[in-house]
Amino acid sequence: MRKNIVAGNWKMNNDLEETKLLLNELKKQQKKSEAEIMVAPTYISLDSSVKILENSDIEVIAQNMHFANSGAYTGEVSASMLKAIAVNTVILGHSERRSYFNETSELLAKKVDAALANNMRIIFCFGEELNDRKNNNEEEVVASQIERALFHLEASVWDNIVLAYEPVWAIGTGETATPEQAQDMHQFIRKTISNKYSDTVANSISILYGGSVKATNAKEIFSKPDVDGGLIGGASLKAKDFFAIVNAF
Ligand code: 13P
Repeated sequence: MRKNIVAGNWKMNNDLEETKLLLNELKKQQKKSEAEIMVAPTYISLDSSVKILENSDIEVIAQNMHFANSGAYTGEVSASMLKAIAVNTVILGHSERRSYFNETSELLAKKVDAALANNMRIIFCFGEELNDRKNNNEEEVVASQIERALFHLEASVWDNIVLAYEPVWAIGTGETATPEQAQDMHQFIRKTISNKYSDTVANSISILYGGSVKATNAKEIFSKPDVDGGLIGGASLKAKDFFAIVNAF
């Protein structure tokens, strides 16, 4: 179901003690919100994070997972392991995973299948690079990233998918897509989903924007009709900044 969501992707930041401090701060500062709130600490802090946030409205989610359920995959973590510690949502396809760890659409399709087979919700990320936009190729790139990793799915499973448009040129750069650029792309994404599935599916998914969202620009971006929230990197690492974004709704 389509909802407003603000998710903090902490990336490789905060050790266990720092994580506990930030989570307790989030718990203290949290007020009733119209948006669903999520945070994604690193793997080693997930179990403690779930316990700390047990009686709060903030969901703990994972930044990544492997496609296999178990086996000889040194250094990896599976969907069933995440589920076993009550982590029910996973971010897949982040551009840092694609570029630094060579994650392809084919690999991501397998991860998507494994997450869904384990009844997990997915925040699926994609977005064009600066050159794609300079060459007016952004829609083609985005459509292809969505098609190759997600279009083998039945319409019925789309309830468990949240999309996150993260233009690579706006991630961690301080440069943000204008609210109009975000709206145009989100509208295009919804149309792409509608063409493949139906208006019903397209209108019931949440599409988040990610890329240098801050307290100062969140309100304008979130006010666009096809933007249902944000995936926040840097600004999710301070409770005050993160809630300023959550409260932009
Ligand atoms: P920044 O908000 O730091 O640009 O990061 C965005 C992001 O990659 C969220 O997944």
